[in-house]
Amino acid sequence: MRNRAIFGCLCAAFAVYSSYVYTAGTAADHVPPMNDAERFGAKVYQQYNCVACHQFYGLGGYRGPDLTNVISNRGAGYARAFISAGTAAMPNLGLADNEIDAVLAYLAFVDRTGTYPAEDVAVHWNGTVAYQDDPH
Ligand code: HEC
Repeated sequence: MRNRAIFGCLCAAFAVYSSYVYTAGTAADHVPPMNDAERFGAKVYQQYNCVACHQFYGLGGYRGPDLTNVISNRGAGYARAFISAGTAAMPNLGLADNEIDAVLAYLAFVDRTGTYPAEDVAVHWNGTVAYQDDPH
């Protein structure tokens, strides 16, 4: 009988904590969904296999740098120059102008989803993380 009561309490605690964690939201909730241009840019990014050499949030190939925040760290003009002309280390992949615009829009979208490497965040007592713009 006592074991059942303990098990019941643990199940209830699990249900309450899970419902809180999965409904409290994340920093990415503030980002509006991708628009058509950004979605086209995501397709261009896949089509030209940028991920073979680049990472988002540290995931991807390691020949080139992480691109998660390249737009806010370096600027769209800087990124456009690399993509349209290439360098000694990055091949010029021959993107059309509309593809370059779209992939830049996509990079700007990814930039808005968060920061990499992760900021030095504070951890709440319940194990969730406090972001800088978090009102809690
Ligand atoms: C064959 C590997 C490779 C592929 C494929 C590739 N890149 Fe790169 N990219 C690199 C390398 C290497 C650099 C660093 C070049 C340098 O510093 O001269 C770079 C640099 C960049 C930069 C500048 C980043 C910074 O912080 O300096 C951007 C933006 C970029 N690439 C975007 C793209 C996009 C978008 C695609 C796909 C359309 C792509 N790259 C495909 C290898 C690649």
